[in-house]
Amino acid sequence: MTRTFTNVAVIGARTMGSGIALVLANAGLNVRLVDIKQEFIDRGMERIKKFLNGSIKRGKISEEEAKETLGRIKTYIDLKEAVSDKLDLVIEAIIEDLEAKRALFKQLDAICNPDVIFATNTSAISITELATVTKRGDKVLGMHFFNPPPLMKLVEIIRGKETSEEVVKDIIELCKKLGKTAVPSNEAPGFIVNRLLWQFLNESYKLLEQGVATKEDIDTAVKLGLNHPMGPLELSDYIGLDVMLYIGKYIAEKLGKEYEPAKILVEMVEKGYLGRKTKKGFYEY
Ligand code: CAA
Repeated sequence: MTRTFTNVAVIGARTMGSGIALVLANAGLNVRLVDIKQEFIDRGMERIKKFLNGSIKRGKISEEEAKETLGRIKTYIDLKEAVSDKLDLVIEAIIEDLEAKRALFKQLDAICNPDVIFATNTSAISITELATVTKRGDKVLGMHFFNPPPLMKLVEIIRGKETSEEVVKDIIELCKKLGKTAVPSNEAPGFIVNRLLWQFLNESYKLLEQGVATKEDIDTAVKLGLNHPMGPLELSDYIGLDVMLYIGKYIAEKLGKEYEPAKILVEMVEKGYLGRKTKKGFYEY
């Protein structure tokens, strides 16, 4: 029997977590958005309201619909309170750090009913390495959304070694309800999209580093020559250079030297130039 999803907790209210919460609430699900500090929750809710206001301005939804969507999102700073009640699914969207995610999964496993599915929005990390700290390996999988979650159509669904096919099927059905296309993938560093994206973005950093072209020209060439909505350097600033460095280092550690991050990326992250979020990356904002 196909599972129905009514109540979902999203852990982490930053760009991805707040965006995922909005996608779920838009589809009529009850969302519990959790973070460790009220200020993170407030910023997440601001992002959600800003997007909804943009949707109203564009005539995509009415004010009433926006209000209803907002009404379906409840916020928490107490994890236990958020996940103790009847729940179908948890989507983890905290920082990209293996140990932090493992600690959270362990904690969740101790609190949540054994039926609850655990999904992670990780961009690269092994699902199995996360699942092993729980007693529900068959119900742990990757649910990788893309930034900005309300606009990007894809969700990668990643199987860990123990993930049951029934759970994968149910989550694919849920993605359809969310208006997304789910693409399943077996576990591999970076899965499908970030394995490809990393090589592409990393080469763009090397082109810049080697003085082959200016940042503007690299971006323009890719936008016009490949019909991408953003050039690779502009996109890196949008994603966050720290996020790309983490993904790159993780993939290089698992797959070999040829994936190692370009020097320029490492140096920029060391200087605190992380892209749009710090108002300076390859470009200034
Ligand atoms: N509400 C509803 N719809 C909205 C909206 C809102 N608030 N804001 C924008 N839209 C809609 C617009 O109406 C428009 O839709 P239509 O074509 O149907 O009219 C569409 O979104 C595009 O909007 P804009 O023209 O205003 O914005 P844009 O052209 O600047 O596009 C963008 C913005 C979608 C972000 C685009 O630049 C883009 O696709 N960039 C690339 C993003 C990308 O590659 N993301 C993946 C990053 S990798 C990742 O996330 C994985 C990881 O793990 C690192």
